[in-house]
Amino acid sequence: MEKNNDINKSSFWEQRYEKGEIGWDLGAETPVFTAISEKLKPGKVCILGCGNGYDAISFSKKGFSVTAVDFARTPINNLQIAARSLSLSIETIKKDIFDLIPDYSSQFDYIIEQTCFCAIDPRKRQQYSNLVHDLLKVGGKLIGLWMPLDKDIIDGGPPFGVKENEIKKLFSTKWKIIEDCFPTQSIEARKGREKLIVFEKL
Ligand SMILES: C[S@@+](CC[C@H](N)C(=O)[O-])C[C@H]1O[C@@H](n2cnc3c(N)ncnc32)[C@H](O)[C@@H]1O
Repeated sequence: MEKNNDINKSSFWEQRYEKGEIGWDLGAETPVFTAISEKLKPGKVCILGCGNGYDAISFSKKGFSVTAVDFARTPINNLQIAARSLSLSIETIKKDIFDLIPDYSSQFDYIIEQTCFCAIDPRKRQQYSNLVHDLLKVGGKLIGLWMPLDKDIIDGGPPFGVKENEIKKLFSTKWKIIEDCFPTQSIEARKGREKLIVFEKL
């Protein structure tokens, strides 16, 4: 198989799934999001770079209307099969997240971010910030588990390093922070390396 090094292309990620090189995959729903979803009012949630979509299933079971987006075919197929076997109605979109606008402008109450931001080309981080702002309704929430905080961008990736002050700067003027903590529910390998920061769109 030809090696594909361009992280901006779906084929790079598809190859990772086909080879089983998916160290980021928890194999189950994310405990931090499980805890959060129990406190939220059900609404429209978008999961960016959803991977195998365990959290999509979990939110859908709780009555949220879920849209899960990933440009790699294998995880989208896996999620579709899982949703079908559970008779859950989940919108799956096999598309580049940066192509969701204008079709999905102001559609969502919540966006879930987990290891998508650190997977994209760091030069696209401002574009990512604009994207989530466009996707959310006013008052909508960007619920992010930001990581890896213990890595610098110059160390390369993916995952590319993420710094708390960078995130807070990117989501500053048009946002307010409503939650900011190191969650107790983080899985052991990510404790202290990921931070839950929830931004509300003003
Ligand atoms: C590190 S994985 C994380 C997957 C999932 N969030 C998880 O935690 O298991 C990054 C995912 O984002 C997807 N991805 C990366 N860039 C993307 C883009 N521009 N548009 C859509 N999906 C993208 C990849 O295909 C991959 O499934």
